[in-house]
Amino acid sequence: MINSETQLIALIGHPVIHSKSPQMHNVMFEKLGLNYRYIAFDVKKEQLEQAITGIKALNIRGLNVTIPHKVNVMRYLDEISSEAKEIGAVNTIVNQNGILIGYNTDGEGYVRSLIEETGVKLAGKMVLLLGAGGAARAIGVTLSKHSLKEIVIVNRDIEKAKELQRKLGKNIPSSVITTSQIKYFIDKIDIIINTTSVGMYPNTGESLIKQEWISSNHIISDIVYNPIVTQLILDGHQKGAKIHSGLGMFVYQGVIAFEKWTGITPDPRIMRETVLDLLT
Ligand code: ATR
Repeated sequence: MINSETQLIALIGHPVIHSKSPQMHNVMFEKLGLNYRYIAFDVKKEQLEQAITGIKALNIRGLNVTIPHKVNVMRYLDEISSEAKEIGAVNTIVNQNGILIGYNTDGEGYVRSLIEETGVKLAGKMVLLLGAGGAARAIGVTLSKHSLKEIVIVNRDIEKAKELQRKLGKNIPSSVITTSQIKYFIDKIDIIINTTSVGMYPNTGESLIKQEWISSNHIISDIVYNPIVTQLILDGHQKGAKIHSGLGMFVYQGVIAFEKWTGITPDPRIMRETVLDLLT
């Protein structure tokens, strides 16, 4: 029941209409009997500052932040976690008695789901990271804390790839190659991660990795979850590789955010089923 003690969690972004986060969190609040509700607010770029001021005024307990505000929101916060600073973006905010603290749960969410779903031991592994945008930064920075052997970055815009390499290079060996060089490196790679939008609806059927390059020794991971089975995931499955679909990252970034707002760990399986029902 909503009453005067109900704590509000808000999503701010533009657009937010297709977000599955409200249902994913509200189902969990209800199952755990927590007096919280999650609502999505469509906030345009020019209204971001006003929105954040309003959050303090209304004492909203926490937020998720999505495109296009993940970077710009940082200037309005009181504190930012070291990981979010390193990634350069915030996707979760906790309102701690009027102090707004920004976190990034995307990278940790990704790594937690990868480990949970594939059982991989990251130490000593070679990673091929496809993409150098915001998602690649979050995943790359978090992965770079896990004693990997190397992260090899491929991106259409090579300057962006080099910029990410400089960032990751502080923690771990990291290199940049071109798409045409992938085939020469592929046998040394343990985990292939697609962080680009290639393969996302409506461009299903597209993949940056040819099926013939994939072997059963690879772990194939795609952050795209619309469709849940992308061309890359399908190719990986057909070649006998371990696969990790994008739904895991979405669910676990939510799990970690939920922990930060409530102090309680939700059941990832229930959250996953809720999102799956909405997608299928
Ligand atoms: P996100 O926050 O989801 O990572 P982003 O920062 O816009 O979004 O990054 C999108 C990524 O997908 C980039 O790496 C982009 O490559 P460029 O930096 O070269 O633009 C990549 N990407 C998008 N469409 C692509 C395509 N058709 N082929 C190859 N890479 C693509």
